[in-house]
Amino acid sequence: MISNDIYQAAHLLYKDEVVAIPTETVYGLAANIYSEKAVKKVFELKNRPFTNPLIVHIGSKNQLDDLAEKVPEIAQKLIDRFWPGPLTLILRKKNKVPDFVTGGKETVAIRMPNHGKTLQLLNLLPFPIAAPSANPFGSISPTSPDHVAAYFEHTIPMILDGGICQNGLESTIIGFENEVPTLYRLGSITVEELEHEIGPIKFQNFEENKTIAPGMMNRHYAPDTLTIVSTNIAEALHLYKGKKIGLLLFSPNNNYKNVAHQEVLSVKADLKEAAANLYAALHRLDAQNLDVIVTEQFPLEQWGRAINDRLKRASHPVSK
Ligand code: TXA
Ligand code: MG
Repeated sequence: MISNDIYQAAHLLYKDEVVAIPTETVYGLAANIYSEKAVKKVFELKNRPFTNPLIVHIGSKNQLDDLAEKVPEIAQKLIDRFWPGPLTLILRKKNKVPDFVTGGKETVAIRMPNHGKTLQLLNLLPFPIAAPSANPFGSISPTSPDHVAAYFEHTIPMILDGGICQNGLESTIIGFENEVPTLYRLGSITVEELEHEIGPIKFQNFEENKTIAPGMMNRHYAPDTLTIVSTNIAEALHLYKGKKIGLLLFSPNNNYKNVAHQEVLSVKADLKEAAANLYAALHRLDAQNLDVIVTEQFPLEQWGRAINDRLKRASHPVSK
């Protein structure tokens, strides 16, 4: 059921139920972090390995001290600048944060989302909520209540309606091993914005170090349809000639014919707008019964980096 009722959402969460909640990035599947029953349901609904930790969402900055052992100075600077907002911090956890939320890790991922309704909800509750993206493990993240309903309509009691997610791409994740700011996941806050605030940040080698942020696995955010990323669209279209092709473009381009379905992410070639539209476009493409989705490569700057990252994972072959 898609509903506007935050009191009902609070009631359900209080009763160990799972509720889908809106955020500025993507919809999440929310559970009371202290309820093993509810958190377990989240993992089962998503078919997600229990070792893959969840992000804890808080409604005000002063809840942080309750959950994190020590907040490095650089982390504090980022909090002051970006919270509420799409930035997740990996911090040393306090004992009270349950292991079933952090997958047994000594660290906990925390963010304060920037969505009015969800902040209201969080502030009605006497506990923080754990919320992974509201999609089955590995599939395309949801940016609207309808996307969530398509996945979980029959298995969760409520989807809190917060409209279309404004940023449309997951939060950026940053950790502080030995006080060195380290990027774990590209997302809605760009590397440029982060570096402007705190100077150079270290890039985790996502490919090699799969265990650090398991969400950074090679195949993820993936449509069911075969997806390929191409630096030469004309050539790719030629390769799949005669097939039912879906095309995902950054900005309008009239050169490409013979495609069954086309999605343009930004009429004015704006990377932030493209990021906001990415998942909705992938959902629509995946619903067209296409033989193949061809996408172009995005400029490797600002939100283009995160878009490329997601497209690369979306197009990664299914492992045998
Ligand atoms: O924008 C978002 O962050 C959304 C909305 C709902 O807030 N949530 C989200 O959650 O994207 P999820 O579970 O889909 O992705 C969380 C990522 C995973 O890759 C997980 O492995 C990583 O965060 N993560 C969580 N706790 C961690 C920890 N302690 N250390 C390293 N990575 C962690
Ligand atoms: Mg996810």
